[in-house]
Amino acid sequence: MTDANPKTVYLKDYTPFGWILESVHLTFRLHPTETRVVSRITFAPNPESHQDRFFLHGESLKLISAKLNGQPCEPEVSPEGLTLTPPTGSFVLETEVEISPATNTALEGLYMSNGMYCTQCEAEGFRKITFYPDRPDVMSIFTVRIEGAEPVLLSNGNKGESGDGFADWHDPWPKPAYLFALVAGDLVNHPDQFKTSSGKDVELNIWVRKGDENKCAFGMKALKASMTWDEEVYGREYDLDIFNIVAVDDFNMGAMENKGLNIFNSSCVLASPETSTDDNFERIEAIIAHEYFHNWTGNRITCRDWFQLCLKEGLTVYRDSQFTSDMRSAPVKRIRDVIDLRGRQFREDGGPLAHAVRPDSFVEINNFYTATVYEKGAELIGMLKTLVGDADYYKALALYFERHDGDAATIEDWLQVFEDVTGRNLKRFKRWYTSAGTPRLLVTEKFKNGRYTLTFKQETPPTPGQPQKKPRVIPIAIGLLAPDGTETHPTTILEMTKRQQSFSFEGLTEKPIPSILREFSAPVILQHDITNAVRAILLAHDTDPFNKWEAGQALRRASLMASITQGAAPDSAFLEAIAKVVRDDTLDPAFRALVLQPMSQDDLAQDLTADGQTPDPRAIYDASETLAQSLAEYLSDSLTRLYAASTVESPYRPDAEGAGKRALNARVLSMITRMDGGKTAQKQFEHADNMSQQLAALNALLAQGHGQDASEAFFTQWQGDRLVMDKWFAAQVAFSEPESAADVAQRLTTHPLFDMKNPNRFRAVFGALAMNHAGFHHISGKGYTLLADWLIKLDAANPQTAARMCTAFQTWARYGATHSDLAKAQLARILATDGLSRDTEEMVSRILEG
Ligand code: BES
Ligand code: ZN
Repeated sequence: MTDANPKTVYLKDYTPFGWILESVHLTFRLHPTETRVVSRITFAPNPESHQDRFFLHGESLKLISAKLNGQPCEPEVSPEGLTLTPPTGSFVLETEVEISPATNTALEGLYMSNGMYCTQCEAEGFRKITFYPDRPDVMSIFTVRIEGAEPVLLSNGNKGESGDGFADWHDPWPKPAYLFALVAGDLVNHPDQFKTSSGKDVELNIWVRKGDENKCAFGMKALKASMTWDEEVYGREYDLDIFNIVAVDDFNMGAMENKGLNIFNSSCVLASPETSTDDNFERIEAIIAHEYFHNWTGNRITCRDWFQLCLKEGLTVYRDSQFTSDMRSAPVKRIRDVIDLRGRQFREDGGPLAHAVRPDSFVEINNFYTATVYEKGAELIGMLKTLVGDADYYKALALYFERHDGDAATIEDWLQVFEDVTGRNLKRFKRWYTSAGTPRLLVTEKFKNGRYTLTFKQETPPTPGQPQKKPRVIPIAIGLLAPDGTETHPTTILEMTKRQQSFSFEGLTEKPIPSILREFSAPVILQHDITNAVRAILLAHDTDPFNKWEAGQALRRASLMASITQGAAPDSAFLEAIAKVVRDDTLDPAFRALVLQPMSQDDLAQDLTADGQTPDPRAIYDASETLAQSLAEYLSDSLTRLYAASTVESPYRPDAEGAGKRALNARVLSMITRMDGGKTAQKQFEHADNMSQQLAALNALLAQGHGQDASEAFFTQWQGDRLVMDKWFAAQVAFSEPESAADVAQRLTTHPLFDMKNPNRFRAVFGALAMNHAGFHHISGKGYTLLADWLIKLDAANPQTAARMCTAFQTWARYGATHSDLAKAQLARILATDGLSRDTEEMVSRILEG
């Protein structure tokens, strides 16, 4: 296990830094390969610490000079940082270092992307810029001077003086180094302004490369909507004179919340109808909101140490999901979030990478920006809100902001405000933060003399390093329906606290149909044996949209399972029930599109494994294809009508209503393409005036093997647009047959536009391969070998992105010996690579050892 790793960091070892940083002055003299960073920091002893070793982090820095209280000094420098014997009392340390942004392919610290300078400091990137106590609980006030020939020079906070070749910035809010940012380049801006609720004017800018300025309007609208929403819902105002967003092409993540200077992967901010899909628009809106919301949940209140990462990320994901629910359709957002949670977090929680939402050890912190910390972390906030109620939730948040503003806080601080507001004891609830694994919730029912009893049993399988699991507090939202489908009992919350617990309802005349875990009120796996007939009633009548959808999923899963394990034909009851929903024009098209969405083949493999079976990727693929074909045939007499009814007239608008219709339209088109040889899709491809419809057509054609011409035309039309080209790379791999997916991916790596060093492009090809379940897990092992080849290459340039993509292998042990031996051999080959990064080494060894 990783515990034996000498580089492991433990939560229990936390001690505060021995000094307080009274002020930080930085000067940057920009140069592609010889940037100079001069730092002047005033240190004072920290009365709350007994630490007396003076160590500053620093990696890949060339120390030019150092001065202690103005006198030259010679500190000891190691690959990890700088040590010196500090004077007693306060002192000033000045250092000058040289760094090389142009050769920084890891995209951490100061680097260059398309000729522009930019930074990424979270989690531990600031140490690649200058010597510094690079930990989130060390907060200070930064004053920055940038010297460079670039026309635009940006940093955090408010603008100071600027002139020919220089700009000064001052950030009045104390912040940890991970929130530092600097951008310099030949950029153009999309300006706007915002008046806060107390009347302060804020200058807003989205900075982009020339030529992208027509793709900023949507992001700006989303930013202003986020600012208003945070004032109205959480009472949080913005706190600087200026808020800048910059779009960068080479970026490891989606975006970063640097104080007053958010930096975005260009794919997460640039949008236009011709080049962006509805999903892109929704994601951009959400991520702009997410980074903006961090200004309070993350920046004003930050994390004491990286073990507390969910304090800012779980809460901010929860807040951005509330925002999206308010801007768009709440049920649709919830269903999509749960699909994502099951596909990514449940998979992580059930495999070798399982860890607690607040882990207690790590080797490389970059490896802990996971679905568990983020998505499960957000689920825990949702459960807390369900348990204490809306009013107390907002009271607790108000207290959190008041009590901890300016602090580097912990999960204990967070739970304390809820205890103080509600008088509850949250000790048991805290287990959700400290214990890994997804609980299974087994349900049995009894009905006697008008009394209906539900008995729940919870069980969490062991996870790495945590063999025993204590029971959790589980809020179970439940409603009851009569056998004819009318709701007799609206939603109530049952609070389960024990391993096994019963809840009764009195005075019923007939045995009800329960709708359990409405809105997916807890991140658990519900195990409830009910008949397909009951599922069909829930699908037709449940008033809870989540459980209505879930009933359809259960029917689909049952049909697929029977096909996979017994070779059964698709279940006609499933087809009939689904068809009814899809043809029902009173239902939201977005909801109908979700009901039509095929089940992820990886999820099916997961379910089979949980049932004690060995999943065969090819058999899962075949059953999925057969079901999709049957559904298309079953619906054939409605497809033309549905297609016409869901076609949205121009002009394109990226709102939820249009997006929902287009989503249904795309599902219908993919069925039509199974029946008409691609005629309809080809026509849509040629006439579409927006990317959603154009890409839907291309995907449908590719999926049925009719995509050759369209793919070439798409390339010719869009080869000059990087973000659209990512879609082109991804679609070809995603919609390849199992037999050819790895070959297609391999061929694309030889394409002149393939660039391993651009994370978006790498992910377009290999993310798509990893998600092509039967293609990646092809029995030949060629998917495994190809990905391993490229992870090894990428690791040498960009460890963070390489390590993240190793997660494609996390499920290797669930498959049969032929598959798992092949996967294991590739993992071993990666691990044996000379000079492998700590990031990838940790991931691969955890995946192998789990
Ligand atoms: N703080 C993170 C960005 C980050 C992650 C920096 C990992 C360094 C290492 C940011 O707030 C974030 O969470 N971004 C997400 C998107 C968000 C909508 C969940 C991302 O980049 O994927
Ligand atoms: Zn975040």
